Amino acid sequence: MTKFEQVKAQLRAAPRRWLVTGAAGFIGSNLVEALLRLGQQVRGLDNFATGFQHNLDQVRELVGPALWANFEFIEGDICQPATCARACAGIDYVLHQAAIGSVPRSVADPLTTHNTNMTGFLNMLMAARDARVARFVYAASSSTYGDHPGLPKVEDQIGRPLSPYAVTKYCNELYADVFARCYNMQSIGLRYFNVFGRRQDPFGAYAAVIPQWVAALIGNRELYINGDGETTRDFCFIDNVVQVNLLAATVQDEAALNQIYNVALGDRTTLTRLYQMMREQLRDRYPHVAAHQPQYRGFRAGDIRHSQADISKAQTLLGYAPTHAIQDGLREAMDWYVAHLPQ
Ligand SMILES: NC(=O)c1ccc[n+]([C@@H]2O[C@H](COP(=O)([O-])OP(=O)(O)OC[C@H]3O[C@@H](n4cnc5c(N)ncnc54)[C@H](O)[C@@H]3O)[C@@H](O)[C@H]2O)c1
Repeated sequence: MTKFEQVKAQLRAAPRRWLVTGAAGFIGSNLVEALLRLGQQVRGLDNFATGFQHNLDQVRELVGPALWANFEFIEGDICQPATCARACAGIDYVLHQAAIGSVPRSVADPLTTHNTNMTGFLNMLMAARDARVARFVYAASSSTYGDHPGLPKVEDQIGRPLSPYAVTKYCNELYADVFARCYNMQSIGLRYFNVFGRRQDPFGAYAAVIPQWVAALIGNRELYINGDGETTRDFCFIDNVVQVNLLAATVQDEAALNQIYNVALGDRTTLTRLYQMMREQLRDRYPHVAAHQPQYRGFRAGDIRHSQADISKAQTLLGYAPTHAIQDGLREAMDWYVAHLPQ
C-alpha cells in the first residue's frame, strides 16, 4: 500500500475539517473534489477573481448530493482579515491556494498580485494561527528558482526572482518559516511546477500553456510558442498535486514539517515536444489538427529558460509517488477538454 493509499484510508475512517482557499479555481476545485470524495468536511473560500462558479458546479455534479452536503462555500476576499478568520474557524487543515497566479499578469500589474499574494497570504497565516489549525499547507511556486542555473532544481538552491509574482511566492515561504519559529505553527510550502489538468481555464490573456493550446488546436486557431520551442518545463498532472497536498497536511514526521517541497514529475519537456504530443492526442478526434502548425515568436519577459524539479525530498519525507507521467496526464486532460470546451 502506498503512503497516499494509507492516508486516504485514515481520512475515510476519521474525516477532518478542511479549508481550501481558491476553491473555485483550477487546483482548488480539484482539491475540494478529492476531499469530498474521501468523505471530508470541506469549506471553500474564493472571490472569483480568476475562479469560476462553473468549477464548483462541476464538482457538485461529480460528487453527488450526499457528499456535496459536506461542502460549505464562503464568497470572500483573503485581503479582508475578518473573512480569513471566519474561514479558518474550526478548521483542522488549511490548503491555501488563493493567489493571482500568473507571471505576466504580475509584470503588467504588480500591485494586484502583491495585495492578494502578500497581504492576503499574511492575513491567512494570521487567521490560521489564531484559529490554531493543525497544519497550514500553501501553494508556493517553482518561479522562486528565478535565475539560478542549476538543473534539476533542488529546494535549498534558489536564485534571484524574475518577476513580481516570484517575489510574492518567495516571501510566502519566508513568512511561513517565521511563523513556525515565532508562533510554533506547522506549515508546508509546495513549490508547484507547471500544473495541468481538468478545469484549468483555457481562456483569457493569462491562460496557462496547455489549456490555451488545447483550445487553439480544437478551434483550429493560431497557436504561439514563445521563443524557439526548446524552452523546457516540468509539467505536472493535477492528481499528483492533489496527492502531495494530502500527504503534506497529514504527515507526522517532525523532519517533514516547516519545509518546502518541489511538486512536479522530475522530468522536462520542450514546448515543441509538448505541442507534438498534444497534436498527436487530438488528431484522431479532430482531422484538421493533423495539418495544424504552431507560430514561433519572441521570448516572454520574466520566463525562465529551463525548469525541471528534483522531487526526491517530497518522495523521501512525504512519501510522494506520482501516479501520472506527462502522457497519462495529457490523455486525461485532453479527454476532459474535448468533453467540456464549447465546440
Ligand atoms: N497552475 C500552476 O501551474 C501553478 C504553478 C505554481 C503555483 N501555482 C499556485 O497554485 C495556486 C492555485 O493556482 P491555480 O492554477 O489553481 O489558479 P486559479 O487562478 O485557477 O486559482 C486561484 C483561485 O484563487 C482565487 N483568488 C484569487 N484572489 C483571491 C482573493 N483575493 N481572495 C479569495 N480568492 C482569491 C481565484 O478566484 C481562483 O479561484 C496559486 O497560489 C498559484 O500561484 C499554480
